[in-house]
Amino acid sequence: MELEEALKRINQADILVSPDALEFLKKAEDLEAITNKIVSGPDFVITAEKIGDLLKKDEEKKIPLPVEVVRNIGFKPLASEYPARLSMDKASDVSGKSKCTGSVEDFVSYFRSRFEQTEKILRARVHGNSTATSKSLAGYGNGTHIRLIGIVNSKRKTKKGHLLIELEDEYGTVKVLALDDRKEKQQSCFDKANSLLTDEVVAIDGRISDPFLMAEDIIWPDMPVKEQKLCEEDLCIAFISDIHFGSRYFLEKNFAKMLQWLNGGAGDEKSRGLAGKVKYLLVAGDIVDGVGIYPKQENELIVKDVYEQYSMLSKFLSELPDYIEVVISPGNHDAVRRAEPQPRLSEELMGDVCNLPNVHSVGSPAYVQLSELRVLLYHGTSLDSIIATTPGCDYMHPEKPMLELMKRRNLSPIYGDNPIVPEERDYLVISDPPDIVHMGHVHKNGHMLYRGVSLINSGTWQGRTDFQIKQGHVPSPCIMPLYDMKTGKTRNVDFSAEGPEA
Ligand SMILES: [Fe+2]
Ligand SMILES: [Fe+2]
Repeated sequence: MELEEALKRINQADILVSPDALEFLKKAEDLEAITNKIVSGPDFVITAEKIGDLLKKDEEKKIPLPVEVVRNIGFKPLASEYPARLSMDKASDVSGKSKCTGSVEDFVSYFRSRFEQTEKILRARVHGNSTATSKSLAGYGNGTHIRLIGIVNSKRKTKKGHLLIELEDEYGTVKVLALDDRKEKQQSCFDKANSLLTDEVVAIDGRISDPFLMAEDIIWPDMPVKEQKLCEEDLCIAFISDIHFGSRYFLEKNFAKMLQWLNGGAGDEKSRGLAGKVKYLLVAGDIVDGVGIYPKQENELIVKDVYEQYSMLSKFLSELPDYIEVVISPGNHDAVRRAEPQPRLSEELMGDVCNLPNVHSVGSPAYVQLSELRVLLYHGTSLDSIIATTPGCDYMHPEKPMLELMKRRNLSPIYGDNPIVPEERDYLVISDPPDIVHMGHVHKNGHMLYRGVSLINSGTWQGRTDFQIKQGHVPSPCIMPLYDMKTGKTRNVDFSAEGPEA
């Protein structure tokens, strides 16, 4: 890296360079690595002394995870008095079952599975016009109101600003026109049509006007309206994701603080009481930063061996109280296939800890039953494409794109934006309505209740990366959501400051 480029990046991060720091940078050998440290550091003004401190900090880092857990001997956790009530839903998890070879037949059966599973949900929940198919459409006369269920093949604007949608079912395709007129009812239909995603399965109500079906309403499979399910047990579920072990931005001290807290060794009496209620800990992927995930990643790694990165996970798991049941699912940085559905982390990666009775490894997505609650774990890789294409979605509120996925009853509706393996069955269809959905990936916390389903994004334990600075993305590191199984309330425990704050 040239000095000029380094100064440009530092400048973009709104950091001032003192004259002695400039002299230091002129002579520096590994200018790129030093620049990475400067732009990811907390300083607004950088001096030669501060650069020296940043380099020293690196040397002080020990591998793996140098955590000295202080256990509170008087800690009497309520959760240790309850037996674990959890089971993995193996049918929902691709682990050990992938048969895909990438043949044309695989793609056909994958999309057929997506269509059939979603059509079943749509037929069960919507009433109204009689449902036609692309084949039976010719039997209805012009002006007839019908409903059509299909996969959105394409969506484009016409010259007059209307939307032309090609909808495909098992017999063929139909052209659907959504008019952009200013009458309120039609306009709401146009807005709905505008938020259609390619490859998603929907029902469209419309009037036949050969050769088009004139759209009057769009119906998504959506979640049924139901009450939030509550449990008898006075216990909590804790959620983490995007730890990125091995990354130089991994916030080790804050992470250690969280571990300490779970062991009853941090916080006041009330806070320790809350820690003692944690019976389940769910981990939704990007456990390690991985190796070779993106170009020049090696400059951002403090641990460059993926097995050593996973040994940091082992260390963490072995320091957790043994009454806490841990469920681990992978993400796009983990060392399993990147395309979804992802299988679970192998025993080889996890080492001896996978034999611990309280540690469970599942794929992504996977359903887990915790007491009365059906929890859906998914890393959330598709959130990027939903945020990019859906009006009203952004990285600041991850619960909004999560809601869009619930509405579409598919965890990754747009085929191809993030890699998907065309398995015989579409594992990403949300066939069963869950009680809790846990995702990560966007490094931003957010939660909401939608039709009785708690949507929780558990943020990250990684600081703001250079890439995120360039993207203008502000993560919310070191905030752990807790779900109270008895009350159904979600609260955040903040480990980003000095002590745990609930
Ligand atoms: Fe991540
Ligand atoms: Fe991710």
